[in-house]
Amino acid sequence: MLFKQQALLRQKLFVLGSLAIGSVLYLVARVGTLDRLQPICPIESRLPSPEPEQIPLRTLQFKRGLLHELRKGNATKEQIRLHNLVQQLPRAIIIGVRKGGTRALLEMLNLHPAVVKASQEIHFFDNDQNYARGIDWYRGKMPFSFPHQITIEKSPAYFITEEVPERIFKMNSSIKLLIIVREPTTRAVSDYTQVLEGKERKNKTYHKFEKLAIDTNTCEVNTKYKAVRTSIYTKHLERWLKYFPVEQFHIVDGDRLITDPLPELQLVERFLNLPSRISQYNLYFNATRGFYCLRFNIVFNKCLAGSKGRIHPDVDPSVVTKLQKFFHPFNQKFYQITGRTFSWP
Ligand code: A3P
Repeated sequence: MLFKQQALLRQKLFVLGSLAIGSVLYLVARVGTLDRLQPICPIESRLPSPEPEQIPLRTLQFKRGLLHELRKGNATKEQIRLHNLVQQLPRAIIIGVRKGGTRALLEMLNLHPAVVKASQEIHFFDNDQNYARGIDWYRGKMPFSFPHQITIEKSPAYFITEEVPERIFKMNSSIKLLIIVREPTTRAVSDYTQVLEGKERKNKTYHKFEKLAIDTNTCEVNTKYKAVRTSIYTKHLERWLKYFPVEQFHIVDGDRLITDPLPELQLVERFLNLPSRISQYNLYFNATRGFYCLRFNIVFNKCLAGSKGRIHPDVDPSVVTKLQKFFHPFNQKFYQITGRTFSWP
């Protein structure tokens, strides 16, 4: 009897032991699998090509949390090393145009999991003092990113500054260049409004737009006025074309980015060879703001700062017409060069 009970107990122990060993073996195998599935493993060892098309988007989305910590300065050096984070030179630059919607474009592109933005305007190529600091200084201004992400910066002064095309070419002759434009007269008024606001903040007076835009002696458009000159897009673009082929530029319709941003963003995704990831979910119209705002996820939304989307002063209609007529031939040339046509007057 006692012998039988002992045998039964031994049998039970054997079954339990086998179960325990089985469970341990299963867990070891499962953890191994999980480990392989963990997106935090070094991704370049699994992905031979550095091309953006190859980006494992789920991986990058997973890593966004860490990037957010990095931006807040909470990530440690160890995390940076462990996750292979690097400060990369931009593979695409929004070179202008000032008041075209450069901030909105950068922020909206940053919704893409494979894009990392340099938050500040770096002004490396247009500012001689910064440029003299060298390329490592510039790289040091870039955010941390995963090797297969692309960094984008925007400095709208690049578009109109003489020395910039050559300098950018020297850094990377195959860089992708984004230019966001608006109807030239509206852009000029927007430019004026920004300067006017700056003056008012300092309690300074400023001329009316009409006085600046029209030469009072000749009654012609004042081409010395910077807000007018900046809107002659073709003149600036032609300087760039001495260094870069037209295929390296993508023109974004800044007016459509305001009213219907998604199709414009999808064109940029295609230009940057990125899979289409920005969706209508990421963009919602905020009636109070009067603009589209950004939705990163269920908890994190943001609209652009109040300095974007100012109310423009009324401009004398005859001055508007004069400016529109002035810009017309330049616009035609711009369409011809870029292959993108707008319904500007
Ligand atoms: P206005 O202030 O004239 O309306 P930039 O960032 O290059 O300075 O451009 C500013 C312009 O971006 C603003 O010009 C605004 O119209 C435009 N813009 C485009 N999309 C916007 C958005 N979603 N929110 C706010 N402004 C936006």
